[in-house]
Amino acid sequence: MRVVIKDSYQQLSLAAAAEVAQAVRIKPNLVLGLATGSSPLGIYQELIRLHRAEGLDFSQVTTFNLDEYVGLAPDHPQSYHAFMHEHLFQHINVSGERTHVPVGISDDFGSYCRSYEQQICDAGGIDLQLLGIGRDGHIGFNEPGSSLGSRTRLKTLTAQTIEDNSRFFDRPDEVPRFAITMGVATILDARRVLLLASGKKKAKAVARSLEGPISSMWTASALQLHADATVFLDRKAARKLKQLEYYHWIQRQAGDICP
Ligand code: GLP
Repeated sequence: MRVVIKDSYQQLSLAAAAEVAQAVRIKPNLVLGLATGSSPLGIYQELIRLHRAEGLDFSQVTTFNLDEYVGLAPDHPQSYHAFMHEHLFQHINVSGERTHVPVGISDDFGSYCRSYEQQICDAGGIDLQLLGIGRDGHIGFNEPGSSLGSRTRLKTLTAQTIEDNSRFFDRPDEVPRFAITMGVATILDARRVLLLASGKKKAKAVARSLEGPISSMWTASALQLHADATVFLDRKAARKLKQLEYYHWIQRQAGDICP
């Protein structure tokens, strides 16, 4: 795993957005995996700025979101559909037909989840996947105990995740308890993965996932198996890493190799 440590959330967002923008320039029909939550907001703001200021073109890009709450219709203000529309889609020239967010209402979740996997496959697979990380180390909504071979499916959220996400809802009892999420194996299939974490609340999950044993108890640890995963951290999220000095050292050496 490549570990990039920046001084602030703003700086890590700019660094990660530059890599996404470069990927879109190199491959205009990129298949981009997207995440919700506060972590990717800085990237989305920068991508919108690049679209407006430099004409970064999303017209051929296809997107697939990681997850969605079960029980929320796409037009619910707290749905991940609404989140993506508000924070990214409405501000760039991505085609509505090429954006995919799982739908949280279905008569048959099993077959719906299989069809979501099939759509990813039909699009040629995900080229670049953005990820945040939960305090319990989850990626997507792959809570502790999720099989590292899991595919898109229904998951029951943990009490901690429900509590963490309650800040977006008026009342705690409104927070959904179930979600549809890409599985860990779905995420590992992406050709490239960028994970973002900031703030001291994420420090334990970051340390366990990057430097602990690969375990379904910290599903982000599965990224240790990925051949092209980069983790963008601010100093607070990085502070529990044992190899912190080494990661800084690598960053300084990389500057010499690629001036
Ligand atoms: C939710 C999302 C995850 C996200 C996590 C962390 O659980 N399903 O994809 O990574 O929240 O969110 P935040 O970035 O707001 O800390």
